[in-house]
Amino acid sequence: MSQNIFLIGFMGAGKSTVARELRDHYGMRLIEMDEQIEAQEGRSISQIFAESGEAYFRALETRLLLSLEQESNTVVSCGGGVPMRGENVAAMRLSGKIIYLCASAETIYERVKDFHTRPLLEGNMNVEYIRSLLAQRTPKYQSAADITVAADGNDVRAVCEEILQKVRTAAKIG
Ligand code: S3P
Repeated sequence: MSQNIFLIGFMGAGKSTVARELRDHYGMRLIEMDEQIEAQEGRSISQIFAESGEAYFRALETRLLLSLEQESNTVVSCGGGVPMRGENVAAMRLSGKIIYLCASAETIYERVKDFHTRPLLEGNMNVEYIRSLLAQRTPKYQSAADITVAADGNDVRAVCEEILQKVRTAAKIG
């Protein structure tokens, strides 16, 4: 696959799981944005938010995306807030297809509830909060997406097959 794949969607939608599958079984290179930012900063996402603030973190995300223009055959697992900035969406469009992994608030809650790595959900770990933030963000996810794939189920391989098939079809049409 010469094009890159950018996986977007809410926290817990399954971006990291799908990205690892695309690396392990479809030979793509993987960039996990959160991990790369943590490695570069030498501190966790929670620490970055607490010590330097969200705006600082968002600037790091944009800088990382802008540095990916030369990549190919790479799947990028984006942080859930990435598509909120128009410049991020523009940077992704330059080098690949944007795939929105769409999941319900209930699915998301089940997947995130036992983790304490996401500062935006600390103190807000309930379906109601997730539903309201998801509703707020959904228009941005939808308008950024070239392709939308339902990610409520647990068949990761099927999600990957659907993504690759739709990317190939879009490449033929585009
Ligand atoms: C965020 C999502 C997180 C991480 C940060 C902020 C968000 O990534 O980037 O906690 O704004 O939705 P995941 O979507 O990989 O959990």
